Amino acid sequence: MIKYIFGFLVVLSSCKKAETENCSTPVVLDSTPYELPIGSFPNPITSSEFQLTTAKVALGRMLFYEEKLSSLNNQSCASCHSQTTGFSDVNQFSEGSEGNFGDRQAMAIINLAWNNNGFFWDGRSPSLAHQSLQPIINPLEMAETHANVISKLNEVQGYKNQFIKAFGNDEITAQKMGLAMEQFMMTLISNNSKYDKFLIGQAELSESEERGRVLFFSEFNEFFPEDSGADCEHCHGGFNFENDLYMNNGLDEDADFTDLGRFNFTNLEEDKAKFKVTTLRNIELTPPYMHDGRFQTLEEVVSHYNENIKISSTTDSALLGTTSTGLMLTDEDKSDLVSFLKTLTDESFISNSDFSSPF
Ligand code: HEC
Ligand code: HEC
Repeated sequence: MIKYIFGFLVVLSSCKKAETENCSTPVVLDSTPYELPIGSFPNPITSSEFQLTTAKVALGRMLFYEEKLSSLNNQSCASCHSQTTGFSDVNQFSEGSEGNFGDRQAMAIINLAWNNNGFFWDGRSPSLAHQSLQPIINPLEMAETHANVISKLNEVQGYKNQFIKAFGNDEITAQKMGLAMEQFMMTLISNNSKYDKFLIGQAELSESEERGRVLFFSEFNEFFPEDSGADCEHCHGGFNFENDLYMNNGLDEDADFTDLGRFNFTNLEEDKAKFKVTTLRNIELTPPYMHDGRFQTLEEVVSHYNENIKISSTTDSALLGTTSTGLMLTDEDKSDLVSFLKTLTDESFISNSDFSSPF
């Protein structure tokens, strides 16, 4: 009897819920466009067929935070890409759904709408729609199959409704999941750091930050140590502090290459141990650093560039040119450079509730 009453109540309340969602307003395709809040950034290069909609973005956000994407229903994308740490993982290597570990550091998901040359450290994935389906089937990550995820999502009316709003019908496919997650990830825009405010005259840099800024953007010159900069801009340039290229920043000599990076994808000798030049936005929040997370702090990163560039067959020539003297940075220069890097932290990015879990 008690069970019966309980069941009756559940039916009642779910009908009530259904009324607001289902009965009164029929669930239909919602093609309301989503305007990317790009601020002063240039328009991202996307094809004319590519239209962001609020419904697709919302679906992508649900999927990004959905633990059903993993075999044990215990891990979502956000487990390794946490908003509080710039959508990255502070662990050197991330633990997968079934307790396995990979051998690369989880990348930060920031301003990828402007990334036009492949995804992952080696660029093996051509688009975010393609990329987002890979962690699901990676045995070291979510260790699930697309078919299982689809059948789990099919049991949830809320998902069926959201697929209708996003795509016009409730057929759930891996391709649609990828397209929706791509759209959500494109909305993860960081353009409100102290540095951005400085550029439009709304913030002042401290003396140390300003000296760091000059070092960051000035060329290296071994003959004039006083005027010589750290030339970080050479690779981490432009509004997004990256260059869409794969390079070797002198972490190891050839004999010590363990991860061949871009070479694994292109098979070209010249790509050995080359990795994506990532954005430095929010870099303070996303330790550890490099593809293998070998550096814990920004101080260690700066010391690497200053005095520890390794000569190898693929080390970038700009860095090779610094190896006889190093960057000649004083202790003060080094800490100024770190101060500048910290001006790229964007508090509004990590507290933006549009980016947080919808559940
Ligand atoms: C177990 C941890 C883990 C999970 C879960 C995970 N990722 Fe990742 N992610 C990583 C690692 C590690 C890399 C770098 C891998 C590589 O380069 O081979 C990465 C790279 C990426 C990149 C590439 C960024 C760039 O700049 O090229 C994107 C985008 C991304 N992940 C999105 C997702 C999405 C979407 C999901 C959920 C479907 C997800 N990740 C789930 C660990 C994880
Ligand atoms: C020749 C190109 C080049 C120059 C110059 C350069 N970098 Fe890099 N940077 C890279 C590459 C490539 C990576 C990724 C390397 C890897 O993970 O194997 C990287 C990675 C980084 C990272 C870690 C990013 C992450 O997500 O883990 C930081 C921080 C960084 N660079 C800061 C700097 C600073 C500061 C300077 C100036 C002193 C500088 N870089 C100069 C190419 C360059």
